[in-house]
Amino acid sequence: MKDLTNKVAVVTGAASGIGLAVTERLVREGMSVVMADIEAPRLEAASARLIEAGAPVSPFVVDVADAAQIDALKDHTLATFGGVHLLMNNAGVANGRQNYKSSPAEWDWVMGVNVLGVAYGVSAFVPIMVEQGEGHVVNTASEAGLCSTAMLGPYHASKYAVVGLSETLSLELEGTGVGVSCLCPELVATRIFESTRNAPASLGYPTPGEIPVEQLEGFMKTVAMDPADVAADVTYAVRANRFWILTHQVTLARVHQRNDNLEAGRNPRNPVSSKGV
Ligand SMILES: NC(=O)c1ccc[n+]([C@@H]2O[C@H](COP(=O)([O-])OP(=O)(O)OC[C@H]3O[C@@H](n4cnc5c(N)ncnc54)[C@H](O)[C@@H]3O)[C@@H](O)[C@H]2O)c1
Repeated sequence: MKDLTNKVAVVTGAASGIGLAVTERLVREGMSVVMADIEAPRLEAASARLIEAGAPVSPFVVDVADAAQIDALKDHTLATFGGVHLLMNNAGVANGRQNYKSSPAEWDWVMGVNVLGVAYGVSAFVPIMVEQGEGHVVNTASEAGLCSTAMLGPYHASKYAVVGLSETLSLELEGTGVGVSCLCPELVATRIFESTRNAPASLGYPTPGEIPVEQLEGFMKTVAMDPADVAADVTYAVRANRFWILTHQVTLARVHQRNDNLEAGRNPRNPVSSKGV
């Protein structure tokens, strides 16, 4: 989809971080954007700021893990802007726990948002794009969907699933005029480490006030990529119909290392510490 002007995008997770930066970028490219997010006050504030500046955006509160709410998002998009050309399935959460320490309810939450949210978006919007013979889907996976650490079990599992879903979707859509991209960033300066703010209360995570947010934000700003740079990469990939969006140089080296282990039949290993342990 080389020309984005006067076309319509739907971005999930648009109230913060990567989704908000992509929304701002797409507006500059001439698109109308439905901003979808579960966090109503932030969504309201972000969309109001953009609307005041003259941007054609429309906020919609949605839990992407609920298929009926995604259908309502589709109806809202068609009623508001009369069509859809670009879908960015971007909403995502991390529970920050290892596999064997995560409860069934935590698994439901992470897989519901990160995997089913993407799947429901595809089911709702892609048939419209195929019918019109034009469109593009960007699914936000992660470097965590290409190589593993011992830190983020369910998150890794969910992001590997998004990579698999995206690859197969791309094969399914060959020749339809609908492109697919899979975004796999390493660290980006967003609120991802505060994900539990949007978890169901029944999971019993600390309330946002109990999380040392300033510390997290300071850390992210010093070591992580600016979301605006990720947004530039996303726009480029949509125009060029590029599947892989790898934002960080380190990612390919890690993927090579994983493939080397796989070819050599070596078991996964944690990185060796400086003491050689
Ligand atoms: N920040 C990073 O370092 C990084 C790296 C790789 C991948 N990612 C991925 O990028 C995507 C965007 O995250 P971010 O880093 O901008 O974090 P963020 O927390 O700043 O933004 C995520 C947005 O998703 C929304 N959201 C959460 N649950 C939702 C739900 N059930 N329904 C609808 N919206 C929901 C949040 O309210 C928030 O606005 C995620 O899929 C994340 O896994 C982030």
